[in-house]
Amino acid sequence: MKKLTAIVMGYGMRGQSYSSYAIDNPEKLEIVAVAEPEKSRRLYAQRRHNLSEDMLFDDWEKLAELPKMADFAIISTQDKMHLEPALACIEKGYDLLLEKPMAPTAEECKIIYEAAEKKGVKVVVCHVLRFTPFWYKLKELLDEGAIGEVRSIIHMENVGNMHYSHSYVRGNWRNTAESSAMILAKSCHDTDIVQWLLGKDCKKVQSFGSYSVFTKENQPKGAPDRCLDGCPYMDSCLYNPVKFYVEDKENGWRDTVADKVDATDEEITEALRTGPYGRCVYACDNDVVDHQVVNMEFDGGATVSFTMSAFNKGGRFIRIFGTKGEIVASHANSEITVCPFGKPNYVAEIDKIGESITSGHGGGDTGIMVDSVKYFNNEQPSKSVCDLRTSYLNHLICFAAEKSRAEDSVVDLDKFSESV
Ligand SMILES: NC(=O)c1ccc[n+]([C@@H]2O[C@H](COP(=O)([O-])OP(=O)(O)OC[C@H]3O[C@@H](n4cnc5c(N)ncnc54)[C@H](O)[C@@H]3O)[C@@H](O)[C@H]2O)c1
Repeated sequence: MKKLTAIVMGYGMRGQSYSSYAIDNPEKLEIVAVAEPEKSRRLYAQRRHNLSEDMLFDDWEKLAELPKMADFAIISTQDKMHLEPALACIEKGYDLLLEKPMAPTAEECKIIYEAAEKKGVKVVVCHVLRFTPFWYKLKELLDEGAIGEVRSIIHMENVGNMHYSHSYVRGNWRNTAESSAMILAKSCHDTDIVQWLLGKDCKKVQSFGSYSVFTKENQPKGAPDRCLDGCPYMDSCLYNPVKFYVEDKENGWRDTVADKVDATDEEITEALRTGPYGRCVYACDNDVVDHQVVNMEFDGGATVSFTMSAFNKGGRFIRIFGTKGEIVASHANSEITVCPFGKPNYVAEIDKIGESITSGHGGGDTGIMVDSVKYFNNEQPSKSVCDLRTSYLNHLICFAAEKSRAEDSVVDLDKFSESV
């Protein structure tokens, strides 16, 4: 296999994660340039990928205006900053590994989709679940007919209360206008995965959901808006940021809080005094839902009931009901039990893809790199890879769900798609 090269735009959590593949597999991938405004991350990229000064940029635009210098571009900037770099890279002829969501609005997603089609470049959207051994096994079981024809699915995304507090109350995805709706930011993985498992187009969507817990009305009496300003509830509060970010050294979000690589306890504490993560969880500008239900009807009549909830310890769970049996599975516990009618139940063995099961997102962060490098190299990737049209349509399910939630209506996907 020919070794590929890539450029990275946005060397934060996700950019660093995908780039690890080049460090672990230098014979397959080399990162040749990085654009990242935050200095410690830029220097980290320089050390990791042995980059010369002229291959480091403090803004994606400076890198995008140069002649094409690599096989593909990894776009891992924040949600609202996907459209412009994606279009610039498509125009230059780069294939793309594009972070999800493609963009915060259906119209922008369509613009990216059409531009890529016109230019003839390949785009893999980072729906990492498809690339995990767990979800891949489920897909294989369904395709083999292990439970006959699937008629319905109950799927749950348990976000986890601490994760929710970090990302959706205090953090980057807390406010719809500043980033995107919860269904898109968090659950576009879920609409994508159920569509992939079923292998059919979604036809109708209906959704309900709201938020009511992390609001000003629920702020305990006497609690200041910033936790370090002498909050009397620090010892008993579940969301005490000192315990969560400073004392818990295993917390992978420490660098996010201080907005730099290898942040010290002092830097994190200082960030808590002034930054978003030191705010009382009941005094933030959050407005994304803390629970949501999405009902979907697919071509052929199969139905899916999806629930996202903030109030749990985390993990995805799914029950799939087929004409010849049932599957009960927990991604959190990496367990798949197949219950064929008239036969004993059995536990399906989940294959490892190399060491990828241990990488981020249950192996998906490595899995997507393995497949994308093959795909961009014109080799046969696994069936986890889909074309951009499929990713675009799966994003539309989220936009339709948000429309349904806002308008209290059932949304016909074909009509909705025409209206975009
Ligand atoms: N696929 C997944 O499972 C998954 C998981 C988490 C986040 N995400 C998505 O990945 C994206 C990035 O998330 P993250 O957690 O890595 O965020 P992050 O904030 O850690 O990383 C984004 C980086 O972009 C950089 N940046 C800002 N302006 C820039 C510019 N002009 N040019 C170049 N870089 C610039 C920031 O400094 C930051 O380092 C988001 O869209 C997010 O929704 C996807």
